[in-house]
Parts: sequence; structure tokens; C-alpha cells
Amino acid sequence: MSSPKRSRHGRTRGLPALLIGALTLALAVTLTGGPATAAQQDTLHELAAAQGKYFGSATDNPELPDAAYSAILGSEFGQITPGNSMKWDTTEPVQGQFDFAKGDVITDFAAQHGQTVRGHTLVWHSQLPGWVGALPSARVEAAMTRHVTEEAAHYRGEVTAWDVVNEPFNEDGTFRSSPFYTAMGSDYIATALRAAHAADPDAELYLNDYNIEGLGAKSDAMYTLVKELLDEGVPLDGVGMQAHLAVQYGFPNQMRANMQRFADLGLDVAVTELDVRMELPADAAKTATQSSYYRQVVETCLAVERCIGITVWDYTDKYSWVPSTFPGQGSANLYDENLLPKPAHSAVRTALGGEDDGGDGGPGALKAQYRSSDSATRDNQIKPGVQLVNTGSTAVSLSDVTVRYWFTSENGASSYSTWCDWSPIGCSTVTHRVATAGIPKAGADHYLEVGFRGGSLAPGASTGEIQLRLNKTDWSNFDESDDYSHGSGTSYADALKIVVYVGGERVWGIEP
Ligand code: XIL
Repeated sequence: MSSPKRSRHGRTRGLPALLIGALTLALAVTLTGGPATAAQQDTLHELAAAQGKYFGSATDNPELPDAAYSAILGSEFGQITPGNSMKWDTTEPVQGQFDFAKGDVITDFAAQHGQTVRGHTLVWHSQLPGWVGALPSARVEAAMTRHVTEEAAHYRGEVTAWDVVNEPFNEDGTFRSSPFYTAMGSDYIATALRAAHAADPDAELYLNDYNIEGLGAKSDAMYTLVKELLDEGVPLDGVGMQAHLAVQYGFPNQMRANMQRFADLGLDVAVTELDVRMELPADAAKTATQSSYYRQVVETCLAVERCIGITVWDYTDKYSWVPSTFPGQGSANLYDENLLPKPAHSAVRTALGGEDDGGDGGPGALKAQYRSSDSATRDNQIKPGVQLVNTGSTAVSLSDVTVRYWFTSENGASSYSTWCDWSPIGCSTVTHRVATAGIPKAGADHYLEVGFRGGSLAPGASTGEIQLRLNKTDWSNFDESDDYSHGSGTSYADALKIVVYVGGERVWGIEP
């Protein structure tokens, strides 16, 4: 896929010599065809795939009905990992009663979107149903082998890799206590790997842990273990480095050298659960550090041939595990809670060889506010009031900005008149037109697109209200009640269904 070059600042067209404040402009146009502004870009996965790697995300069943979320999950990422639904407490909550329904939803989603799946996880001390810990030691091995066998066999052909054993080590490199370690000593790891291989000979088998990204006692312990396993001929294909990083703890020590030593044993390496949390509130310095950590992880994986890919532990702050697990921390992911890309997303894109997407919270930081100036939802005009506020720290050139208000046309003429009735910035600087949605969505088969002939919006500044109006040229009625961008509020409020683009890149709002 091509990646058209885009300037974040764009061209600056001259302001018309005459700026007349309260001028009403009317424009009758009929435009059809797909959206013109949202330029096609390579996805994170496409960029990674061009370098022989994958780029994936964790996900979880409760998030999938969120259509805006799953649209990005299904398009931007080439691999997914179930955050919870293949864990033991979900898949065998009662001994011998297996339930793969939730995991199957994840593998179905992946199949529909051409994604690979990393299975996570077969043997782990956490999210382990109580009955396992209550077993007499002599019965743990049989229970573990049965669990591994049943689950790996169920997902045979559907997962490319398994985190067979998760988090086997303490921070000092000693083996972590668990029902498995207590019953079998460290032999449980080889036993689990052999059982997984027998059940699914094609899956790549991994040991996965956190704080093994850099050189240190814990990664030394992992290194010693995997070397022994390989020497004994135990089936093992890779080491997963979770990479739950935090800006306040620094970047892992010599991550590249550490990855390379595992690769040199003939193993694959994967970054399996990347996120970079921070103490809240976020600020510019922490955000810059976070971007740098994401970038360095990507650069490290690219530099190590056997690093086969990167998975982020979900892609959006909206569904991050961080705030509930580390109170006071958050903002760990590539997209914010409104599913908009953050500076770290740009850092990853550019590290993968893509172009900066401008999602850096700088020049493109705008939000839209909306009010309805029209209490009649079934008459022949739509009257949205819109204003833009610069929430960033840099001036935004308005000639780069477009705004979309989505509505449905109902029956009648397919041509429109659009109007700017009043704005403190002057209607003569505001452009407006109606276009047909490329792919009609519920409540959105057309949109009013607003642009600007020039001008600049300083940090913190607002355009002030732009009173817009449109009608069909045959003056037939609309039904606004189901329109995507329509709201009933009569005073200005932040509006995520009004979408703002800078240089064609979405910087605010969620598309229908
Ligand atoms: C986390 C999930 O994201 C949460 O939803 C759940 O409540 C706890 O587990 N290391 C792992 C993952 O290997 O399985 C963990 O996932 C995050 C830390």
C-alpha cells in the first residue's frame, strides 16, 4: 500500500484581502464519491510486515462490541492476543469442565480480519481457579497435563504460538512458587512444553515473563533455563518479553544485547505485552519519555532478526489494565481514551519506517464543540453550531483543517445548499459543502464538510461559534433524530461525533 507524503503544516493559502465579518455565503453543490481528506496510510502491521515482523494488540471480549474500537483493532493490527479469555480460570473453571467459548470469539475475530493469534496462557500461577491449588501435590501434574493438552488441542491450527508457561520467575531469578513448582519443581516447565507440543505440533512454544527485557538477574535466570531446556531437547521455540514498561523506572538495560543472546541460542523472541505507563497526570516530559521507550522497543526488535514481532497490551487507554492494577498510573497505550493516536503512536509509526501521522498532540491538537441551534428535527433544514478549540501548545493553520458533521439525507433531492450564517471569525473565511459518504453508515450517508480559507488558531484559542445551515435544493424534510452527529444540547459542549482533521488526519472525534 502506498503512503502518500503529507505535510503536518501544509500549504498556507493567503487570506482574502477583504475580510468581512458577518457575511452569509451560500453554495449549492452536489459532490459524490469517497472521503477525500482521510489519506490512506499503511497500518502499523503493514509497516512492520514490510520489515518481516508483525504488529499486534491484546484484546478482550467485553471490548469487541465497541464498534469504533474493534474497527481499529481489526484494521491496524495483524495479530491479536486474548487478554484473559484463554486463561485457566476461564477455560477450566471446574476440573474437567472446559469452556472455550470466549477464546473462540477471539479466534473468530482474528480469522475474519486475517490476523494471527498468540495463545495466552496455558500454565500460570495467576488467574488460576482455586481447585488447582487445592489438589494434593500428587495430582497436580496430571491436572496440568490434561489442561495443557485439552486447550492446545482445541486451538490447534488457530493459534500460531502459545505462551505455554507464563511468569515462572521471581525478580531475583529464583523460581516463582506456584502449585506447579511446589508439586514438580522446575520440571513442570518441560512437562508443560512437551504436552503442548504433543497436542499442537505446529504451534510455536514460548516461555513468557516480565522484567526480562534487559540484562539482569531475572533475564539471566530465563537464559539459563532455556539453554538447559534446549540442551535436553525439550520443544521450545521462543521467549516472550512482556515489556510492561514505566517511564519512572527507566528503559531496560541493554535490551538489544539481551534479545540477541536469546536469538543466538536459536530461539525466536517476541515482545508480547508492550505498554509504557506513567504516574498520572501525564505531562509533556513523561509523554516524550513514553514515546522514546516505544520507539526504542520497535528499533530493538527491528535490529534483532529473530525478534518476530511486537504486541501491545491493548492499544488504547480506554481498555488498559494499568489504572486498576497500578493505582495512580495510566496513559500507557498508543491511543487515548477517545481512540485517537497519541505521540507514542507517531513514534512507533516512524520507527517502523512510516511517516509521522501528526498524532503528536502538537500542531494538530483541536477539539470540536457543538450545539444544536434547531429544536425542530423534522423540518427542511439542519442547523449545527460548531466551534473549534486549540487544545495544544502550537498554533494551528486553519487552512489545513476540515470538520465533518454526518447526517442522513432521507428522500428528496440529492443536491444541497449550505450556509454559514454567522461566525466571529467571519463566514467569508469558512467553506462548506455536502458530500456523500463513501461507505454509508447508520445515521451517516452524507456529511457537511467545513473548511477554512486561511487564518490561524493560537494555543488555547477558539474559533467561536460557526453557525451552519443546510437544506436540500427541493426543500424536502430531513429526519435529524437518527443523524450520527446530531445532538440536542443547546449550549456548546465537546462533541466526539463531530470529527476534525488536520492535513487529512483525524485529530478529534470518532467517525461513524
Ligand atoms: C492482565 C489482563 O490484562 C487484565 O485484564 C487481568 O485483570 C489481569 O491480567 N501479564 C500477563 C497478562 O501475562 O496476562 C496480564 O493481563 C498482564 C500482566
